[in-house]
Amino acid sequence: MGYRDVYDSWKSDPEAFWMEAAQAIDWDEAPTKALTDKGDGLYEWFADARVNACWNAVDRHVENGRGEQTAIIYDSPITHTKREISYVELRNRVATLAGALRAKGIEKGDRVIIYMPMIPEALEAMLACARLGAVHSVVFGGFAANELAVRIDDCTPKAIIAASCGMEPNRVVHYKPLLDGAIEMATHKPDFCVIFQREQEVAALLPGRDVNWHGFQYGVEPAECVPVEGNHPAYILYTSGTTGAPKGVIRHTAGHLVALNWTMKNVFNVDLGDVFWAASDVGWVVGHSYICYAPLIHGNTTIVFEGKPVGTPDAGTFWRVIAEHKVRTFFTAPTAFRAVKREDPKGEYVGKYDMSHLGQVFLAGERADPDTIIWAQEQLKVPVIDHWWQTELGYPAICNPVGIELLPIKLGSPTVPMPGYDLRVLDDEGNELPAGELGAIVAKLPLPPGTLPTLWNAEDRFRKSYLAHFPGYYETGDAGMIDENGYVYIMARTDDVINVAGHRLSTGGMEEVLSGHPDVAECAVIGVADDLKGQMPLGFLCLNAGTNRPHDEIVKECVKRVRDQIGPVAAFKLACVVDRLPKTRSGKILRATMVNIADGKEFKMPATIDDPAILDEIRVALQGLGYAKA
Ligand code: COA
Ligand code: AMP
Repeated sequence: MGYRDVYDSWKSDPEAFWMEAAQAIDWDEAPTKALTDKGDGLYEWFADARVNACWNAVDRHVENGRGEQTAIIYDSPITHTKREISYVELRNRVATLAGALRAKGIEKGDRVIIYMPMIPEALEAMLACARLGAVHSVVFGGFAANELAVRIDDCTPKAIIAASCGMEPNRVVHYKPLLDGAIEMATHKPDFCVIFQREQEVAALLPGRDVNWHGFQYGVEPAECVPVEGNHPAYILYTSGTTGAPKGVIRHTAGHLVALNWTMKNVFNVDLGDVFWAASDVGWVVGHSYICYAPLIHGNTTIVFEGKPVGTPDAGTFWRVIAEHKVRTFFTAPTAFRAVKREDPKGEYVGKYDMSHLGQVFLAGERADPDTIIWAQEQLKVPVIDHWWQTELGYPAICNPVGIELLPIKLGSPTVPMPGYDLRVLDDEGNELPAGELGAIVAKLPLPPGTLPTLWNAEDRFRKSYLAHFPGYYETGDAGMIDENGYVYIMARTDDVINVAGHRLSTGGMEEVLSGHPDVAECAVIGVADDLKGQMPLGFLCLNAGTNRPHDEIVKECVKRVRDQIGPVAAFKLACVVDRLPKTRSGKILRATMVNIADGKEFKMPATIDDPAILDEIRVALQGLGYAKA
């Protein structure tokens, strides 16, 4: 069957399609029906099933005689460590960790925050929660204490599992002080914290609250897998929206298992036992789906890579890992390839390694520019596939489904909708647009299994953010078009979310932090084009009347403020002071116009602009930062 047949078979009977995919999962009680329509745009998949995610990702492979297969390869060029964990070892480690969590009171439905770097223990912590039916929420290590505190208050965890430190190439990230600071700031307090002491930095434990990862597992009874309802939340993952308050995306257990498992062969083209590598971080959705759950559910070997595309130690690291561990499918972000290409444009490092096992490479997280795809294809001599999805969706929605059929690649397009997705392009009034016309990309409801059913404790926000604007559809927040052959093109976000080095960030969130500076009266943050990171945030600051402190001092304080309150991952380094911001007559800041000026693009003067002269002032300020070149 080719792509068209598979897509049509889904379209003709979506429930039958997913019921069939569900047969690849081990159920404690198999679902009797696929979809439950809860009314008012809300849906659930496999709600009446009973299942355990950890059983499917770990134990069943041991039961099926694959216990000696390597489940996880840990490769850390930063700490010079390599380690392999077999499925049977993983089962034992996770069962004991889950037993220790249970002994401290963690039960099905309790939330557990995981704040860990790229070490196998991060996956073990996720799987131990899944084993008990506890709901994990992993927080990315590049966020500041304040962001962690916001998440603690939103999901009210009974426990937090953290590591003593993370390792960036240029510094040790002191996780423990960040954790202590976050708990201090948060209103909700966890009952206890489990600290994994890394040898690179041992943290001081707080008696009565903190326990040592190894110590608290001593002598406990290993825990069995607890079956949960199909619509039981497997995890909450926070992602950026238009304001500083992150959105808690929920993933229901059964749909997540069925859909992720389906993608491993059909999209990513790996077979049982193959090595699959997603070079991302467990703190992002790619890490949840394609470092932890999907490869393990499907019986593959996954790689936990603690390093960067360049500098750890060189631009050949990716190729070394691919060759050494015989990776069949590799997944990364375009920005990582741009970083490698900048250091090794001719691909001299590639030639040093035997990459004959590599079958295909997938890129996601941001727009894949054609130059990067062409460069990677020339160096690696395998298909380089752009594919599109979002934290909310959990797995590829637009892709070239290599495992079904490699469709002709059209540069600039992540190819076609996957089964599960009836995508349309709408104008602002909700009218469907013809092929080739630009509009809002939406998906007809219901979304397929494994996508977000709602937001944690925020159903109104879920409706407002995703369902209200275009009734009957899920609004992706991206703009684009579909051509006459059904290829989808993603052009831009329709909201104030920007994408920096494949990381999704809220300019609104940064504006909230900048507005808190005592000298700032008003501000705007935009995303300007960047050759390496895709976009970089840039802030305009209007100061309170009478402020006569040096502007560069205020700018420095603002940069520090964003780093301290959101985190280094915001990469907020560019800001300038301006007298006024360009606005419409009704007072809306013209951010898109400022982006066009910064990127040196032509633009139409907005008809509603209050005072066009302000744009010249903005241009001069941007030129001072090296932007807005003619
Ligand atoms: N913990 C703590 N800090 C972190 C971190 C983590 N897990 N990850 C990143 N940071 C810090 C970095 O050290 C950097 O700090 P600095 O300002 O002190 O230098 C800052 O956050 C910005 O990080 P990043 O935007 O990643 O830039 P970089 O300069 O470190 O690296 C790339 C640039 C392109 C090499 C890098 O961004 C990269 O590999 N990106 C891949 C993106 C990716 O995998 N995205 C996931 C979606 S698929
Ligand atoms: P995240 O939720 O962090 O995965 O970010 C999702 C957003 O990243 C999408 O809504 C897009 O704006 C952008 N994005 C992800 N993949 C692609 C892609 N292949 N092409 C263009 N944009 C992408």
